Amino acid sequence: MGDNGRAEAVSDGRTAPDGGGQAAELFRQTFDHWPTGLWAAPGRVNLIGEHTDYNRGLVLPIALPRRTWAAAAGRSDGLVRLVSDQGGAVVEVEAATIAPGRPADWARYPAGVVWALERVGWTVGGLDVAFASDLPIGAGLSSSAAIEGAMAAACSDLCGLGLLADDTGRQQLAQICQQAENDIALAPTGGMDQAASLRALPGHALGLDCADQSVEHVPFDLDPAQLVLLIIDTKVHHALGDGQYGARRADCERAVRELGLDSLRDLALADLDQTLPRLSSQRLRRRTRHVVTEIERVRQAKAALAAADFTGLGRLFNASHQSMRHDYEISCPELDQAQEQALAAGALGARMTGGGFGGSAIALIAAQRAQAAAEAVTAAFAARGWVAPGFITARAAGPAERVG
Ligand code: GLA
Repeated sequence: MGDNGRAEAVSDGRTAPDGGGQAAELFRQTFDHWPTGLWAAPGRVNLIGEHTDYNRGLVLPIALPRRTWAAAAGRSDGLVRLVSDQGGAVVEVEAATIAPGRPADWARYPAGVVWALERVGWTVGGLDVAFASDLPIGAGLSSSAAIEGAMAAACSDLCGLGLLADDTGRQQLAQICQQAENDIALAPTGGMDQAASLRALPGHALGLDCADQSVEHVPFDLDPAQLVLLIIDTKVHHALGDGQYGARRADCERAVRELGLDSLRDLALADLDQTLPRLSSQRLRRRTRHVVTEIERVRQAKAALAAADFTGLGRLFNASHQSMRHDYEISCPELDQAQEQALAAGALGARMTGGGFGGSAIALIAAQRAQAAAEAVTAAFAARGWVAPGFITARAAGPAERVG
C-alpha cells in the first residue's frame, strides 16, 4: 500500500518487454560471453479444478503473460551452472551429482530438469543458464513450473531433442518437469502447472484430463463481456514442500484404499452420498467430497465458458472456494477476505487458486469495477494489519517457446 493508504494500481499483467534482454545480459556478465539462445516459459493461474490433478481428475488453467526467461548455452563437460536475477551466487553442479534436494534452494528446480531428462536416457551434457523472471515468487502462480519449463525448453533445443515441436513432445517435457519438481525439488505436486506452462494456447484455457494427459483447448476471452479475471496476490507465502500439501495427497490416497478404487476420479458424483459413509473419518469424507464435486465443477465450467455464461462460471468459482475452505481446508484468513471482499465489490465469483495456504485468489469481475475491488480488498487487509496485497489482471497467453 502506498503512503496515501490506497491500493496498488491493478497491473494489466503484461510481460516485461525487456525480460529476455535482462536474462541475456546477466548471462554475459556472469559467463563472459553471449548465450546461444533465449527461451521463455509462463506461469499459470488455474480457473478451476483444484487438487484434482493428482487424483487423475480435470483441471482448467491458463498460461499467464508473465514468464521466466532462460538465456543458455550448452557445455560438453557435464557441468551445470545456474544464475538468477533474483540474486545469490552462481550455482555450479555436476549433472551426475544432482540428487533429491541437491543442489539447494531455487536451483534444484532447473537442475532437476537435467536429472529427469538424463534419467529417461537423453544426454544433456551440461549447460550455463541465466534466468530472469517477472512472475511474483511464492504467489501461487507457478514460478517453479515456469523456471522448469524455461530450462526444459532450453535443454530440448540445445541438445537437439526437438520436444517443443509438437504437443506430444511438450507433454513429455511437462512430465520431465513434474519429475524434477517431485524427485529433486521434493514438492509432491501433480502435473497441472507444468502442463499449463508447456501445453496451453494463447486465448484458451487448458482443459487437461489428468487421467490420460489429453487436452482440450477451451476458448477464454473475457473482453467481449467487459469482464476481467483479477488475480489478488495475498502475499502470504505459499510453499508446497511444507507438509500440508502432502498431507492432502495422503488423505486422498487413504480414501482411495479404503474405497478399493484406483483413484478418486473413479468415484461418480451420483454415487458420492452413498459412498462417503464407508470412509473411516469425517476428514476423509470431506476431502473426498471436495475432489469429486470439484471435478464436476470443471465440467460445468467448461460448459459455462462455451455458453458465455459468466454468471454460472462465477457461481462455480464460489462453490469451489467454499469446498476448499470447508472440505479440503486449504484456505486461510487472507484468501477468505480476498474472496469475500471481491464479491462484496461486485465480482460474479471469486475463489482461492492453486495449492492453497496463501498465494492468490481470482475474481471474475466487470473491468470497470476491478480497481474498486482492489481498493476494498486492500482496505480490509489494512484494517487487519496484513501486508498490502497485489493485483494483476490475467489473460490467457502462450506456452514455453524459444524467443531469441
Ligand atoms: C499446486 C500444484 C498442482 C496442483 C495445485 C492444486 O499448484 O503444483 O499440481 O495440485 O497446487 O490444484
